[in-house]
Amino acid sequence: MGLFSEIKINWSPFSICAPGEKAPYPRSLSTPEGLGDRLRFVAFAEKQATHAFETAADVFSEVSPGVKKIWRKLAAEEQKHLQWLLWRIEEIGLKIDERPVSLALWNSFDHCADATKFAVFMANAEERGRIAGEQFYETLLSIDPITARVFQQIALEEQEHIRLAKTVTEMNFKVPEDFDTRVAGLPLENYAELTRSNP
Ligand SMILES: [Fe+2]
Ligand SMILES: [Fe+2]
Repeated sequence: MGLFSEIKINWSPFSICAPGEKAPYPRSLSTPEGLGDRLRFVAFAEKQATHAFETAADVFSEVSPGVKKIWRKLAAEEQKHLQWLLWRIEEIGLKIDERPVSLALWNSFDHCADATKFAVFMANAEERGRIAGEQFYETLLSIDPITARVFQQIALEEQEHIRLAKTVTEMNFKVPEDFDTRVAGLPLENYAELTRSNP
């Protein structure tokens, strides 16, 4: 019985592992398929984060409107990252549903029995996401500089997510409704600029 794992989510365009099935091990990074495996993995993490922030506002309905505003803002930002990664996968000519992905991250949100646990858990998850983004950037720099740049931008924006996510606990959930949730980052439609060959 879990607060999150029982919610019905449309995970398209991803193909989900059967219960008990493990996600296949990523292939070598020196192949396009291996690059695709990393992109798919991160894209799916962004999708799970999007739904976590979105549904948290309903699951923990007792939180203040200001907190819900922050969580919905973060959901929208994660969705933007997801879209960038889906566009990149398409550009490289790889198929998103070629391999299944695991719901492990999504199911782990069940550990968050209350809003406080969720807020702390997500701030840590954001930090892990930022570190992973930075590592992908460095690894991919010599393999695929354009994809590397997408990861670099995502890692940069995760710093802003961490700041915003931490505000919730720092303010002890008393976030005023008019709280400024703006984050520094690129708008969705600036993807072409971000992935131009000669920036
Ligand atoms: Fe993200
Ligand atoms: Fe994030």
